[in-house]
Amino acid sequence: MEMGRNTRCWCGSGKKYKQCHEKFDERLSQMAREGHVIPDRSLIKNKADIEGIKKSAKINTGVLDHVAKHIHAGMSTAEIDQLVYDYTVSHGAIPAPLNYMGFPKSVCTSINDEVCHGIPDENIILQEGDIVNVDVSTIFHGYYSDASRMFMIGEVSENARRLVEVTKECLEIGIQAIKPWGHVGDIGAAIMAHAKKNGYSVVIDFAGHGVGKEFHEDPIVSHVGKADTGMVLAPGMVLTVEPMINEGDYHLYIDADNGWTSYTEDGKLSAQWEHTVLITEKGVEILTY
Ligand code: MF3
Ligand code: CO
Repeated sequence: MEMGRNTRCWCGSGKKYKQCHEKFDERLSQMAREGHVIPDRSLIKNKADIEGIKKSAKINTGVLDHVAKHIHAGMSTAEIDQLVYDYTVSHGAIPAPLNYMGFPKSVCTSINDEVCHGIPDENIILQEGDIVNVDVSTIFHGYYSDASRMFMIGEVSENARRLVEVTKECLEIGIQAIKPWGHVGDIGAAIMAHAKKNGYSVVIDFAGHGVGKEFHEDPIVSHVGKADTGMVLAPGMVLTVEPMINEGDYHLYIDADNGWTSYTEDGKLSAQWEHTVLITEKGVEILTY
């Protein structure tokens, strides 16, 4: 759609188009003509959207800090779920996983060889030596945010500690690879290189995603990408980077009984860290610190 230069911008900022996204559109159109995949306008957040997502992200970080304070050996993952639910609701927000496509709890808790989407349960008790991912997603006034951390329960093996640390580095390196007007494939390429260098594999079957007005938006953020390929990353896009890194092979299977929890096929350890990030004119901003 052509816009008059003096009419209000399509992004909803209320500003004149020529003072808002005109140059942005020209740059994207040029990239499209060169054969790049460009984001749809629905993926470009305006100032109000970004403020909304930031408020959601602040609560989401508060949830993770709250879990960090209380997590301990001997507690059940259902107790973690209760911590997440209570904190989120008391801050006027909604836990995004609850009832999402039938998911029965407020948070995913994935232990050791569980790759992701572990379902909290009163019979699953955290043991000394476990590594556990707590994946928290929040809806606040219609805006979504999404982040996860690993927790090491008591003394863990050297192998487990190294996997957790390298996976965190993979997240950081993936985020550092993000450049405005770069490509989504840059993220996965950087993550894959770091995992490989450390003798680990990268999960292919689950990916990061755009996030904001919905839980899962475009683009799919593969953690095994190829540099300079995939959708262009334009300022105003918000996405998650959430690499799942395996000690052994990347193959998974999904629990046939609950339909959610995924495990490494070889039974070896898996770890994951996640942030929600905003692409800016200058680089990238992590929203879930
Ligand atoms: N961070 C995960 C994701 O982006 C959270 C999944 S919540 C669930 O998919 F409800 F789908 F399990
Ligand atoms: Co996510």
